[in-house]
Amino acid sequence: MIPPFTAALPEQEIQTVTAAVEQILHSGQLVLGPHTTAFEKAVADMAGTRYAVAVNSGSTALEIIFRFMDVRGRVVLVPTNTNYATAIAAMHAGARVQLYDSGLYPDITDIERRLTPEVAAVVVVHIGGYLSQQLPHLAGLCKRLGVLLIEDAAHAHGSTLGTRPAGSLGYAAAFSFFATKTITTGEGGAITTNDPELAQMARVYRNQDKDDHGRRVVVGGSWRMTELGAALGTAQLDHLDSDLRHRRAVIDRYSRELSDIGLTFPALHGQISGHKCITMLASDINRNTLREKIFAAGVELARGIYEQPLHRQPVFCGLNIADSFPVADDFAARHLCLPLWRGMTDNTVACVIDTVRRTVAADT
Ligand SMILES: Cc1ncc(COP(=O)(O)O)c(C=O)c1O
Repeated sequence: MIPPFTAALPEQEIQTVTAAVEQILHSGQLVLGPHTTAFEKAVADMAGTRYAVAVNSGSTALEIIFRFMDVRGRVVLVPTNTNYATAIAAMHAGARVQLYDSGLYPDITDIERRLTPEVAAVVVVHIGGYLSQQLPHLAGLCKRLGVLLIEDAAHAHGSTLGTRPAGSLGYAAAFSFFATKTITTGEGGAITTNDPELAQMARVYRNQDKDDHGRRVVVGGSWRMTELGAALGTAQLDHLDSDLRHRRAVIDRYSRELSDIGLTFPALHGQISGHKCITMLASDINRNTLREKIFAAGVELARGIYEQPLHRQPVFCGLNIADSFPVADDFAARHLCLPLWRGMTDNTVACVIDTVRRTVAADT
């Protein structure tokens, strides 16, 4: 059975991490040590920002940004096609969340319609690691209106728009290093920004609110990354470029060899993290039936991102879920994620292509 994804590390990295773990255990410094510092430097390099602050999850990274901005009682625009954490983080920080329409990319027209003076921030999510070509336009618009653009870059490690890395396109960004991400620390996250004040305060928020004098000054938590997690993440970041190239080669091959059977692949405008390989099905193909048949033929496809956008999640019934979100509903119904991971062999890719081709042909 071919899985949708595996996070297993190659042997060389396992050895690097094992050596680092031994060193950490001997040192007795399990948090806020040299491995966290090295990891933060590598993350800032990846994102092209002056600062990166490591925390215990992507959700926390988002919440710290919103808390620092003090969004209490103000509107934060969040795409409906995202992980629950994007909206919940803003809500925990006291924001009035309003959903806007989005599929693979944000619907800029819908954002423009919702940009009232009450809006403090617009969040964009780089779904699967794909970056919208309209982000510079959106960033310009936000700047003119004095609204902060926040990137939820949970899927976008190493993605770029042209030469501009994800994580540097707005005021601040949140990365996730959860177990399913292309770079993982098990659980983990990071804030990237060029604002020294946000970076400094993020370090306070994550460390139970203690400032340099041990005084409690803000509402944060025990939100640190462990040294063990940081060492694990750094070992993967050391190979980011070659891993990105490999994932990209797989995506390009899928696109070359599956585009003639009713699958449409998004055009790419830079590097892509390869968190997901997304393809859109022709509207006469039933996604769930196709996925079941592909599974029966030996290839497991992951659930989509996301098949139930936030406006279809019961927990968000207090938000503007009665609005219409046609872009999100269409994306939710028609997209498919093909298997992808960094150690994927040519033979495995060929097997996926052959299985998908045969199944689609038999179905149509
Ligand atoms: C788009 C998006 N934002 C935020 C998060 C939250 O990250 P974490 O699970 O590290 O808290 C996730 C997690 O999967 C995500 O997919």
